[in-house]
Amino acid sequence: MTEKYRLRVSRVTKLFPGVVALDKIDFSVKAGSVHVLCGENGAGKSTLMKIINGVYQADAGQIFIDERPVRIGSPADARRLGISMIFQELSSVPELTVAENLFLGEWPTNAFGKVDWKQMREKTRRLLRQEGLGYSPDTKLRDLTVSDVQMLEIIKAVSRNSRVVIMDEPTSAITQREVAALFDKIQALKARGVSIIYISHKLDEIFRIADEITVFRDGRVVSAHPAAELNIDAVISMMVGRKLENSYPKEPVPLGEVLLEVEGLCGDAFQDVSFHVRRGEIVGFAGLMGAGRTEVMRAVFGLDVFQSGTVKTEGKPVRVRGVSDSIRSGIAMLSEDRRRYGIVPVRSVRENCTLANLKRVIHGGRLHVEQENKLVGQMFDRMSVKTPSFDTPIQALSGGNQQKVLLAKWMLLDPDILILDEPTRGIDVGAKYEIYRLMMELAKEGKAIVMVSSELPELLGMCDRVYVMRRGSVAGELKKEEFSQELIMKYAATKAGDSDKTGGPTSDAA
Ligand SMILES: Nc1ncnc2c1ncn2[C@@H]1O[C@H](COP(=O)(O)OP(=O)(O)OP(=O)(O)O)[C@@H](O)[C@H]1O
Ligand SMILES: [Mg+2]
Repeated sequence: MTEKYRLRVSRVTKLFPGVVALDKIDFSVKAGSVHVLCGENGAGKSTLMKIINGVYQADAGQIFIDERPVRIGSPADARRLGISMIFQELSSVPELTVAENLFLGEWPTNAFGKVDWKQMREKTRRLLRQEGLGYSPDTKLRDLTVSDVQMLEIIKAVSRNSRVVIMDEPTSAITQREVAALFDKIQALKARGVSIIYISHKLDEIFRIADEITVFRDGRVVSAHPAAELNIDAVISMMVGRKLENSYPKEPVPLGEVLLEVEGLCGDAFQDVSFHVRRGEIVGFAGLMGAGRTEVMRAVFGLDVFQSGTVKTEGKPVRVRGVSDSIRSGIAMLSEDRRRYGIVPVRSVRENCTLANLKRVIHGGRLHVEQENKLVGQMFDRMSVKTPSFDTPIQALSGGNQQKVLLAKWMLLDPDILILDEPTRGIDVGAKYEIYRLMMELAKEGKAIVMVSSELPELLGMCDRVYVMRRGSVAGELKKEEFSQELIMKYAATKAGDSDKTGGPTSDAA
């Protein structure tokens, strides 16, 4: 071998009950370069990274750092070898403060062996200031937005003196401006000779930073090339093993009566928000992160309280005091943050899927497992969910497949009104198309669909109308004929000097 690699993985195999997650993987990363890993949901990307980070042990194979064989028995071993990782499923502890999370596992101690809180807080404050983040070291993580938390994870991994930094979908929940900041950081790390392994389903993004691209399919490496030799289409066809239609499966649907009508909704993070959705209509919500879209939807769905305003379904006012009220009125919502609000990690895939739905499978006080299996099976086929069995705990599924199970859960409820908050986050290109198709089918059945998304192309591709939110208010409404990315950006942009009340430090003025 002529090349010396910072990290080399040789013939690594990993078996889980019922799946070969990795099958004799060879993978090598040069010093000072960005190595991107692509592949469909469940291809084995996160599993390999967890092995490199010592979370899982390989069943066979060998890992080399600077061409020396190493044993990585735990994340602490990985840290000692200079490896750090940003997890796809955020690993921070909501009840701890920012400072405690930043130094998790390595809290500084004083001469008496006690935790040195003062030093920890001071260091954190310096780091936050340096990164331009406005919150305090004492803020509890549960009080931060998803994007704040993700940014914190990034800072945590990058601030350590690492030689290999693994980023598993680091940009799934951060703003454009933060993405730019992250990419600057990656360049700086590279210049210091650090190796970066980067996993993302955002294919346009990876070409901005990749030096090398390796594609996984079903636990095997199907391609490993310098990025310069590849393009998006080539990567897609290697990922899914076939060509994909690139268009959106949108068809015209005759619109019916107004199913959901929200008037003058006011809450902590939004003011005077009004919108409506008709039968058969797909209505988009665009806006920068922190503009209040998620907060409005959470209030409509009864996850949060609102102060004033009305929510009507089929013309009748609903008293939304909690989720059960909205579910009873035919509303369902897929939440953007599946870790906090979506899944019950240790429960089985089947239970997670039928949780909101017990009425359909309980008759006379008995749970009908057979019927449950049949319903879940149908839905999973429709969405091509990849799981070893229905009894697998949902936390064992790949990130994208967890998202699909959650979507299946709400579909089983057969709601009239479906609110989807970032439905394709973490979903691979092939499965994205399946989700769009599913949305289209539902619209044709006469459902009303709200799609909150940060990806403008999918909003423009799938929606009949788009509302744009800015700083907690609806700043504009676009009919299909008026659709353009420029117009949406114009409505969404915060003027210079505006500070975003709802987003705080994460507001995106880019
Ligand atoms: N702890 C576990 N127990 C059992 N099976 C697991 C476990 N972790 C992963 N798997 C399985 O291993 C396979 C690979 O999963 P992995 O999470 O590595 O996929 P991924 O490429 O990261 O996908 P995604 O893009 O959806 O994040 C999947 O079939 C998954 O269900
Ligand atoms: Mg993954």
